[in-house]
Amino acid sequence: MFNVQDIRKDFPILSRKVNGKPLVYFDNAATSQTPKQVIDAIADYYSNYNANIHRGVHTLSQEATDLYEQSREKIRAHFNAQFTHEIIFTSGTTHGINLVANGFSALLKKDDEIIVSALEHHSNIVPWQMLCDCTGAILKVIPMNEEGELLMDEFDKLLSENTKLVFVNHISNALGTINPIEYIIEKAHAVGAAVLIDGAQSCPHIKPDVQKLDVDFYVASAHKMCGPTGVGMLYGKEEWLKKLPPYQGGGEMIAEVTFEKTTYADLPHKFEAGTPNICGGIVFGTAIDYMNQIGFDAIANYENELLQYATKKLLEIEGLKIYGTSKHKTSVISFNLDGIHPYDVGTILDKMGIAVRTGHHCAQPIMDFYKIPGTVRASFAFYNTKEEIDALVEGVKKAKMMLS
Ligand code: ALA
Repeated sequence: MFNVQDIRKDFPILSRKVNGKPLVYFDNAATSQTPKQVIDAIADYYSNYNANIHRGVHTLSQEATDLYEQSREKIRAHFNAQFTHEIIFTSGTTHGINLVANGFSALLKKDDEIIVSALEHHSNIVPWQMLCDCTGAILKVIPMNEEGELLMDEFDKLLSENTKLVFVNHISNALGTINPIEYIIEKAHAVGAAVLIDGAQSCPHIKPDVQKLDVDFYVASAHKMCGPTGVGMLYGKEEWLKKLPPYQGGGEMIAEVTFEKTTYADLPHKFEAGTPNICGGIVFGTAIDYMNQIGFDAIANYENELLQYATKKLLEIEGLKIYGTSKHKTSVISFNLDGIHPYDVGTILDKMGIAVRTGHHCAQPIMDFYKIPGTVRASFAFYNTKEEIDALVEGVKKAKMMLS
């Protein structure tokens, strides 16, 4: 049974105070908090297993290697990839996207077309612009509407035999919109294009099945799903990962090196040069176990309750406007108070112990669409409560009074 008070006991940070007030942590879309199961696993690794992996014959190295590879298998099972070697450890979503973009620089030619969406995070815009700069490919953008939804009929019009790649986030970090990725993948495949889905914001809320989605690449970060920063994963279909050249050269990613010629290691190691974030990789698996033990259905249901409750309460405040009003959205509320800069609201909320993100959320094109400098963004996780939302609503009312 889902019991939020029991769950909160797993998160030591939730009982601390900020500016003399109990912490209300509503910046979960930036990074999630860490349960003691993951904190303990980090301590356990450094207390008992710390060694470099895939290298030593000594016991510690072998044990650390086993833990790391077991975690890779856990991640495979979670995302339902067909093969464990289709899971590449990265430093996070941005690394995964850059790895794929770099690989495609060898496969694209002038006038090939790449489609992204108006709802992308900068990390799913800039690497493709860089790719276009070096290949002569053309970047096209799926437009959005006032509700913060992508226009699928416009997407259909952008597709052609020149489309080689489509990159879309599963859930918008700035607005919370859940994008129709099943439709996007099917249509892109119909013209022979490969699809990368940025799952940074979806993985804390839902459990994607990469085989069922038939997606070519899917990327995620551990720190958005109760794990540590500095580690993430790239899923790639075996056929694509075999086709792409390595991203970085170095130790671990080779089969044989001579000054005349180097041959590369098999998957997944071909893409894992250098000593990785070993502890991070291992406890990424612990974080996934933790979330699965709570259950993604229970998480999604509860977060939806929080979303509905907060939306209703916030909209009772006169002059408050919510950006991103799709029926298909997750527990993210981006808003502004009429005539008041989001930064000022965020600063006053912080004085009350309430952590929200303010600004453009690394999604400037969305802010340009709405002609605003940024928003206040409250993003909820399964360990938040309605009482905390009440505190936010009171905080916003107070900020409005002070700043009007
Ligand atoms: N991409 C993260 C966010 O949305 C950092 O806040």
